[in-house]
Amino acid sequence: MTVGTTTGTSATGTTTGSAGAPSTIAQADQPRAGRHLLSIADLGAEGIDEVMKLTDSFVEVSSRSIPKVPALRGKTVVSLFFEDSTRTRLSFETAARRLSADVMTFSSSSSSLKKGESLRDTVQTIEAMGIDAVVVRHGGSGVPWQVSRWVHGPSVINAGDGWHEHPTQALLDCYTIRQQQRARGIKSVPTLQGLRIAIVGDVRHSRVARSDVIAFAALGAHVTLVAPPTLLPASLVGWPVDVSHDLESVLPKLDVVYLLRLQKERMIEALLPSLREYTATYGLTRQRADLLPEGALIMHPGPVNRGVEIAAEVADLPASVITNQVANGVAVRMAVLYLLLGSGVDLAAA
Ligand code: NCD
Repeated sequence: MTVGTTTGTSATGTTTGSAGAPSTIAQADQPRAGRHLLSIADLGAEGIDEVMKLTDSFVEVSSRSIPKVPALRGKTVVSLFFEDSTRTRLSFETAARRLSADVMTFSSSSSSLKKGESLRDTVQTIEAMGIDAVVVRHGGSGVPWQVSRWVHGPSVINAGDGWHEHPTQALLDCYTIRQQQRARGIKSVPTLQGLRIAIVGDVRHSRVARSDVIAFAALGAHVTLVAPPTLLPASLVGWPVDVSHDLESVLPKLDVVYLLRLQKERMIEALLPSLREYTATYGLTRQRADLLPEGALIMHPGPVNRGVEIAAEVADLPASVITNQVANGVAVRMAVLYLLLGSGVDLAAA
C-alpha cells in the first residue's frame, strides 16, 4: 500500500508539492493550516480521519521486529520542550526516529535562554541550522502559534500549550477508541458516532480536555464533562458538551470514561477542599468502575496519580486502555510527521 504521494494533501488539507512541503511557502506572518499542526480544530473530521487511516499503517510498522522505515531520511525534527514531559517528548522523538529522521533535543534549562536570549532568537537560531519540524511544548497558551509566525520553512507541531490545546493527544485518543471498538467487534466501521464519552476531573486546566472535546464532537460522540464547578472552565459557551456533577449517575450510560489528573502546577488558588474529598466524590474507585457497562473503556492521558483520580487497581483492569494510548501515541505521531514532512515513500516496500 502506498501511503502519501509526491503531490498530495497534507494532514490539514492543504495541497502539497514534492517532499510534502507546501507548493508555495507561506508568508512567515501568515502561517497556513497544512504546514503546521497547531489546533485539532484545523483538521476537522476529515483531517482526523486521514491521520487515523495512516496511523493503521504505522501501527503495523511498529509491530515489526525492526520498527523503522526510511520515510523521513534526511529530515531533522527538533523537540523544543519548555515544560516537563515524559511520554509526549519520548513519543515524538521515537516517532521521528522510526521514520529515520534526525532528532535534535532542546532543553530550556541548559540553553542560552538562561543567558537572556529571547524565545524568538532561540527559535530563529534553531531554524538557521536547517531543520524541518519543531515540536513545541510550552506553559504559555499560544506559544506554538507565535513560533509558527517566526519560522519560514519548518513545520510547527503543538505538543501542548498551557491550558489550551494538545492536538496529538486528541488524535491518539480518537485512534485508541476506534481501535478498541474494532477489536471488541462493537462497530464494524470504526467511528465515534453516537458514543457517550465522559471527561472527568480537572477540565479547567486541561489542554487535553479542550482538544479531546473538539475531536470527539467532530467525530460525532456525545461528550459529558463531570467535575466540581471549580474545576470547570469559567465559561462553557460554544463547548459542545453536557455537564454533570454526579459521576455515579453518568457512569452506567458510558462507552468511555476519560479521567484527568488534577493539574496542581497550573492551579493558582485552592480550588478543592481536599484531595481526599475530591477522590471520594470524583475518583474512579473500584465500586464506581463496576457501574460501567460491559465493554466500556477507561482512559487517561497520563501521568496518572493512582489513588487520586483513579484507584490503583482500576488503572490495571482489562477495561483500562491507558498503555494502549501510549503505544498508539507513537504511531499517531509518525502519521502526523509523515503527513507534514513525508516524501511519499511506499511503506509496504520499505
Ligand atoms: C498531559 C499534558 O501534559 O497535557 N499529559 C500528556 O501529555 N500525556 C496531561 C497532564 O499533564 O495531566
